[in-house]
Amino acid sequence: MKNRLIVALDTDDGEEIDWLSATLAETVRWFKMGFQAFSALGVEAFPWFKQNGHKVFVDLKFHDIPNTVARDVGMMTKHGANMINMHAAGGLEMMQTARNSADDAAYKADIPRPILLGVTILTSIDETGFQRNFGSERQLTKQVVYLAQLAQEAGLDGVVASPLEIEPIRKACGDRFLIVTPGIRPEWAETGDQRRITTPAEAINRGADYIVVGRPILEADDPLEAAGMILDEMRGA
Ligand code: C5P
Repeated sequence: MKNRLIVALDTDDGEEIDWLSATLAETVRWFKMGFQAFSALGVEAFPWFKQNGHKVFVDLKFHDIPNTVARDVGMMTKHGANMINMHAAGGLEMMQTARNSADDAAYKADIPRPILLGVTILTSIDETGFQRNFGSERQLTKQVVYLAQLAQEAGLDGVVASPLEIEPIRKACGDRFLIVTPGIRPEWAETGDQRRITTPAEAINRGADYIVVGRPILEADDPLEAAGMILDEMRGA
């Protein structure tokens, strides 16, 4: 389970990141850097995490023209990211070009290609929010599955989606397609702005490959204890 929990380092405070990663070093293998952590640490984070035996998910959710995203993904690959995501809504060509760029960069640097993920619909958006924001009559789950199939066709390894959508994605994309789920809330944690959520155990039972947890660990009085409780819950699932 240690390989399947990703802790979101959602802070731009370098000292807090130092403290958190040191505190969680033995318990957690994967850390996620979004814009906040990336702005604090920059690309020096990659060798630093690596030397401590950790893996890094670069959650910068790229969404731009194919040429730009290809360069972004190639650069992150070269620096040693282990997992990178982009918005599937950026389109088939954007995702295909990104995949080719990651292949090239990994080959040139003689390193394994990072896991590439498409972000489907953010877990903070519910059905009403989806229809309002996207002007779509389609059901949210149908759009998630559509984007997952597009990501698969483009050669990505998987998607970021809500744990509530694992089953329809599996049906459409098969067992080998990775599903990474944020929107995880243990019974004892605050929901915050997340909407399409489950507990860690339920996400594992539904078949998530990785779960992403931020605030329930970062905002806990004792983050190490919180991470341990989440891992125990995952193991017991
Ligand atoms: O604090 P919390 O557990 O809600 O953090 C979830 C993390 O996952 C955040 O860093 C958020 O940016 C990220 N994320 C998400 N939904 C997505 C993709 C990433 O919540 N679809």
